[in-house]
Amino acid sequence: MELMRLLIMVLSIFYSAKTSNGDGFLVYDYYKETCPLAEDIVRHNVEVAAYKDPRLAASLLRLHFHDCFVMGCDASVLLDSVEGMTSEKQAGPNLNSLRGFEVIDKIKYLLEEECPLTVSCADILAMVARDAVVSRGGPTWEVLLGRKDSLKSSFNGANQFIPAPNSSLESLIDSFKAKGLDMEDLVALSGSHTIGRARCASFRQRIYEAKPEYHHGSDRYRRYTTFRRILRSICPVTGRDHKVAPLDFETPTKFDNHYYINILEGNGLLGSDNVLITQDHEGVIKEQVWAYASNQKLFFASFAKSMIKMGNINVLTGNEGEIRRNCRFVNT
Ligand code: HEM
Ligand SMILES: *[C@@H]1O[C@H](CO)[C@@H](O)[C@H](O)[C@H]1NC(C)=O
Repeated sequence: MELMRLLIMVLSIFYSAKTSNGDGFLVYDYYKETCPLAEDIVRHNVEVAAYKDPRLAASLLRLHFHDCFVMGCDASVLLDSVEGMTSEKQAGPNLNSLRGFEVIDKIKYLLEEECPLTVSCADILAMVARDAVVSRGGPTWEVLLGRKDSLKSSFNGANQFIPAPNSSLESLIDSFKAKGLDMEDLVALSGSHTIGRARCASFRQRIYEAKPEYHHGSDRYRRYTTFRRILRSICPVTGRDHKVAPLDFETPTKFDNHYYINILEGNGLLGSDNVLITQDHEGVIKEQVWAYASNQKLFFASFAKSMIKMGNINVLTGNEGEIRRNCRFVNT
């Protein structure tokens, strides 16, 4: 009896210490007892959505990233604006850009029918991201679960913490570091840009910059000028901001390692893709990029590992936050 009480005391101290800073445990099979169909419902609906519109797989993967980098993986990105609180959806990196909210709404609706107030929106985003990757031929992994949903959004946080496509390598490294992710995570997770599209507004600066990133006369420069000509025809100096181009021109809807081949050739779409090569003066990143470009399995393993790490950023657990009834609004 005494021993039991001691054990409970020790456990509860440990538990509260772990959760008090919002950095609690996530576990596998969290919904095994309370909502055994949760993972199946999510997977099925992501498959259907990605089958109808392959780009949605990319958009859904990106939602998890934009959630996790603002406060933490707490579904803050899903909240709509209300009196006194501006949505993260309105922030620069998200406005007219994030997609897929209707898919999340549908999944949440079905989960509320199946097991009310049980599956958090933050966990839905984490499962959806994995299933989206799988739907386009990418790797799978076990998603750790047990996140709670935030009670607020952070418009300012979205502007501050989500890296911009014209960032320097140094600032990309810094923004990942600020979230507990290292340079290897940066390189592996940037491989997400093997699927999906970007708007003209996101790559215009790069294709019209006065000073090209490559040496005149080099092979890379020649390839890049051809690539740039195509991009300029899609995206003029001004206007057509919402025209899109594929992030991976070779295999735009396939989750593969082609992103790394592209950036080695100077053909990454975004400035932030290309600085991984052009500003890597120590050659550490180049080595990793080469490894992924020549070994898709290795990329897949690293990607899965880094996604799990990203999914752990400042999660709310236990009594923190809530499980939203509707992902767009906090419960009243
Ligand atoms: C390294 C820093 C990153 C920067 C600067 C960046 C920036 C961008 C930009 C500007 C776009 C195009 C948005 C638009 O024009 O509407 C985009 C698209 C995308 N990003 Fe990133 N991103 C980064 C990292 C990531 C990460 C870590 C992930 C996922 C884990 C990710 C997943 C995606 C996907 C899948 C798309 C395509 C979305 C679609 O087609 O709807 N990105 N990113
Ligand atoms: C990046 O783009 C933003 C928005 O278009 C612009 O305000 C900023 O000056 C650019 N930064 C750099 C370093 O070019």
